Amino acid sequence: MNNLCENQIKITKFAQLFKITTTRFDHMGKVVALANQKGGVGKTTTAINLSASIAVLGKKVLLIDADPQANATSGLGFDVNSEGIYECITGERTAEEVMLHSEDVKNLWVLPSSINLVAADTELPNMENSHRVVKGIIDGVRDKFDYIFIDCSPSLGFTTVNILTAADSVLIPVQCEYLALEGLSKLLNTIKIVKSNLNPSLEIEGFLLTMYMRNRLNNQVANEVREHFGPLAYDTVIQRNIRLGEAPSHGKPVMLYDASASGTTNYLLLAKEFLKKNRKKAAK
Ligand SMILES: Nc1ncnc2c1ncn2[C@@H]1O[C@H](COP(=O)(O)OP(=O)(O)OP(=O)(O)O)[C@@H](O)[C@H]1O
Ligand SMILES: [Mg+2]
Repeated sequence: MNNLCENQIKITKFAQLFKITTTRFDHMGKVVALANQKGGVGKTTTAINLSASIAVLGKKVLLIDADPQANATSGLGFDVNSEGIYECITGERTAEEVMLHSEDVKNLWVLPSSINLVAADTELPNMENSHRVVKGIIDGVRDKFDYIFIDCSPSLGFTTVNILTAADSVLIPVQCEYLALEGLSKLLNTIKIVKSNLNPSLEIEGFLLTMYMRNRLNNQVANEVREHFGPLAYDTVIQRNIRLGEAPSHGKPVMLYDASASGTTNYLLLAKEFLKKNRKKAAK
């Protein structure tokens, strides 16, 4: 049996396990940036596994890797030397020309990144309509997807501001650790500035607790985040799970690496919560 076939069988099993009903239109081409200038908090892990889970739930998803580290690109098994977001920024390519279809998850596409993207922070400011270059790229493919997720780098530089200008909302992973909230004010301030000057419709999608372990410190952090952000904090918490760290080296989302891992369950539940929240918002 080939890989693709095996993967489709695994995916069908999930659908049964999670009583997944099939595709329904929620929110055409919603653009969600995963951002936090703090490094290593789970942005890329969430970008990969939330995108794949939502795709498995029947939505058409594009994951844009906007980090020169290109971890989302390699983590889904794609070549980090491919043409991608950087060539779109310079205008050599369109997103449609360079986006890649996942062999494993049929509703998932990736717009890859490469180390070339490091130049974007210095090149973008000199471009025409400099704050809206990424928006222009996304507008070209927006109507082809239900959701577009963007994995940001751990910085609040010009490229990230461009992404926030293109996004409908920001999903903020917060690692359950000491001083988790420290540094968030800088991100929230940047979001506020972008909202008032460049993108009035920008919203906060939510705060997601990541790398949770059942201990006093982690519970304290989780409570603090919930007290601080109320309903904006997701009910679903992503536990620390070694499989989530291993899956990228196999070029797969965790659900196709280890179906029984807690990481698989956590991200599928997150995807369901995300879709439910968005259905409610769309109904308002
Ligand atoms: N829930 C988890 N359990 C265990 N390991 C995790 C979990 N989430 C992420 N990791 C691991 O922690 C490290 C950092 O995660 P990740 O790359 O997703 O963070 P990031 O915010 O994208 O980092 P950067 O700021 O460098 O882009 C990675 O090695 C990843 O595999
Ligand atoms: Mg990352």
